[in-house]
Amino acid sequence: MKALLYNMTPEQQVYVDEWNQAHPEDHLETTNDELEADTVDQAQGFDVISVLQVFDINDEEVYRKLASYGIKHIALRSVGYNIINFEYVHKYHLLVTNTPAYSPRAVAENTLTSAMYLLRKWGPILHNEKEDLNFVREANLMSDEIYHQTVGIIGVGRIGSAVAEIFHVLGAKVIGYDLVENPANEAFLEYTDFDTVIKESDILTLHAPLDPSDEGMIGTEQFEAMKDTAFLINAARGPLVDNQALIAALKEKKIAGASLDVMTGEEEIVMKKFTDLSQLPEDYQELVKMPNVVFTPHSAYYTKTSVQNMVKQSMTDAKRVLDGQKPVYPVDE
Ligand code: COI
Repeated sequence: MKALLYNMTPEQQVYVDEWNQAHPEDHLETTNDELEADTVDQAQGFDVISVLQVFDINDEEVYRKLASYGIKHIALRSVGYNIINFEYVHKYHLLVTNTPAYSPRAVAENTLTSAMYLLRKWGPILHNEKEDLNFVREANLMSDEIYHQTVGIIGVGRIGSAVAEIFHVLGAKVIGYDLVENPANEAFLEYTDFDTVIKESDILTLHAPLDPSDEGMIGTEQFEAMKDTAFLINAARGPLVDNQALIAALKEKKIAGASLDVMTGEEEIVMKKFTDLSQLPEDYQELVKMPNVVFTPHSAYYTKTSVQNMVKQSMTDAKRVLDGQKPVYPVDE
């Protein structure tokens, strides 16, 4: 197998090198470029390509050229596959796989971290300390305990169910909404409808994939319906939340805080460094100043286990497809 892995980083490269050593019959090459019209020519001569990026691939040229180079398979190293244009995938008879099982626990544990950070008011505590050298235990810093909370999960797939299990073990009441209900999850959560999850959650956490019809799923109406003491966690996809509605809800104290690992417009800031606040997009300028909001740079997934598995699982499917077997994780829309 000759594979080209786009979006390479040094920490993934370690596992690419491991693969090459363990499979001398294969040849994995890497580039740190994104896959786009300007870089697709690098794929010539390879059997398969692999991608891990947040930029949408909407240029038909990319798909047309891949097919013309004889490439039949795009092996994503991500869980999400919203960057892919399936109209062009179908038009050029390509196959797409993802890596949904690289580590649901990675995102679930990050969600726990977000929940506890918000619940125990660490944002305002750190803000008081670092901005004002204020170490007073102010009344607004009093919090509550996790086993008194209702944790609501939108999207109870692999990640959502790992989140449910963790909070259930901690004694929280866990409720969830998904189009498809899995009876196995009922050991950890109670399924209910979308509106009830929005209304009853003290901690509302999103783990749904980004389907275009779900854009802005959490907007003004949902913020109105949420408890004003509730926290929002989004480690799924930015566009699930309407940024302007979120900013308004935080300003008007319709919710108590937010932890955002993803956000619409994140391509403008993630993996970049800035020297001045004014360089950030406007939404970010407002949110970054709020002590009850925390951003993480799309790093909820970012553990050793995830990085290792995203290389291994994507290349395993790449090999299966070339060997004429069914891939383990095909995706389509
Ligand atoms: C995913 O795997 O879907 C992620 O969000 C990780 C990201 C680097 C694309």
